[in-house]
Amino acid sequence: MQEALYIGIDLGTSAVKLLLMNAAGEIKNVVSREYPLFFPHPGWSEQNPADWYSETIEGLKELTKEVDKTAVAGISFGGQMHGLVILDENDEVIRPAILWNDGRTTQETDYLNNEIGKEKLSALTANIAFAGFTAPKILWVRDKEPENFARIRKIMLPKDYLCYRLTGVFSTDVSDASGMLLLDVKNRTWSEEMCEICGITQEQLPRLYESYEAVGNVRREIAEELGFTDHVVVAAGAGDNAAAAVGTGTVGDGQCNISLGTSGTIFISSQNFGVDQNNALHSFDHADGHYHLMGCMLSAASCNKWWMDEILGTKDYAQEQEAIAKLGDNHVYFLPYLMGERSPHNDPNARATFIGMTMDTTRADMTQAVLEGVVFGLRDSFEVAKSLGIAIERTKICGGGAKSPLWRKMVANILNIEVDVPASEEGPSMGGAMLAMVACGAYPSVEAAAEAIVKVVGTEKPDPELAAKYEARYQKFRRIYPACKPVFAALD
Ligand code: XUL
Repeated sequence: MQEALYIGIDLGTSAVKLLLMNAAGEIKNVVSREYPLFFPHPGWSEQNPADWYSETIEGLKELTKEVDKTAVAGISFGGQMHGLVILDENDEVIRPAILWNDGRTTQETDYLNNEIGKEKLSALTANIAFAGFTAPKILWVRDKEPENFARIRKIMLPKDYLCYRLTGVFSTDVSDASGMLLLDVKNRTWSEEMCEICGITQEQLPRLYESYEAVGNVRREIAEELGFTDHVVVAAGAGDNAAAAVGTGTVGDGQCNISLGTSGTIFISSQNFGVDQNNALHSFDHADGHYHLMGCMLSAASCNKWWMDEILGTKDYAQEQEAIAKLGDNHVYFLPYLMGERSPHNDPNARATFIGMTMDTTRADMTQAVLEGVVFGLRDSFEVAKSLGIAIERTKICGGGAKSPLWRKMVANILNIEVDVPASEEGPSMGGAMLAMVACGAYPSVEAAAEAIVKVVGTEKPDPELAAKYEARYQKFRRIYPACKPVFAALD
């Protein structure tokens, strides 16, 4: 019998990454296609959904070029979270999507947290408002672009736009929907009261699915164009972090995954629903049918990309990292807040900064400071998790930044935990393919798929001497943001 193939589509911020694998977890092909990101004002961040779709279709063609296309059995997604995509009565996109790292909604976020009140938001959705979340963006469109607001018939998240174009089904999944601030996360249903607060109705929102549920099939005309059969199953998919967690086997209870992508996240899976008193970590549904907690920094691998591409003007990241000789001894610090910061500061006004340079500071010291600053930022969220009594002794790691052995070493030593390196760092696209397998019945559950497919190929252990040096440096790092905070506010 012909071997069934599954496709995971990771709709990222810099590119769409597509992965093709069989049910045994053998990766047959990986393709990545970039699209533009627009910053129309400082702190704003937008993309055109049409670009996502056209690059995905081209990517699907490239991905399956060398294989029997009729073997493709299922497709699913990991998608950049929180983005607002709005469609009118003709299913036309009304305005560019407002992305997860967009900081324009300070006023709306303050309104939700202060006027509606954090307690009420937390009771309704298990979360408070952050500038990147979807509900404040809906309020922004309502107040700043009333003509666009009046035309809205469908509200969806980025990967749901792809799913809608591919299947014609208006759907989302509970993990991604958790980041809209419209979902009753505990009960996995829309919150009627939050819809009222945002001036929308539930009819404008997609139907909710678990991530591993089939929502439909690829439409006949698209299947024909791609050479697929007319019964390719499309599963709802997940927010990219939940999908990455599936792809690294971070399922079930008390597992941890760190993602060093455009954003940086620390993700803790949980069998049970839970919220901390201050809502410092996001409390979201997981793609395995349960729950998770998460801290998200807005600029992680993107800090390194910015430093390399824009400032140093090089593409040879590895060569720049080779010049770093003295881990733990750097006197330069970098605050990684190029797009403001979400976890744990919730401060869209925060900005990136170097501090501590002297006449002997080298290019390598600054590169090192950028890499370290990102991990110190992650440590801030890690500290919140620890303060909640969550004991994390080891983590998986994924995302583009996870390819760097040096960065992995910094993670192990700055967090002082063991870092398990999965065979593939393609977390979200692998997770997407695995969700498609479950929807097609290749595995009975997400846990079973993870158990069979995810392989760890190495572990980075902390070195006590280096971890001690980094502990001392982290204690200095954590004093910098509070000192700069009033200045950031004044710069705005
Ligand atoms: C998570 C978040 C980011 C995006 C990146 O809350 O905002 O990780 O999902 O794609």
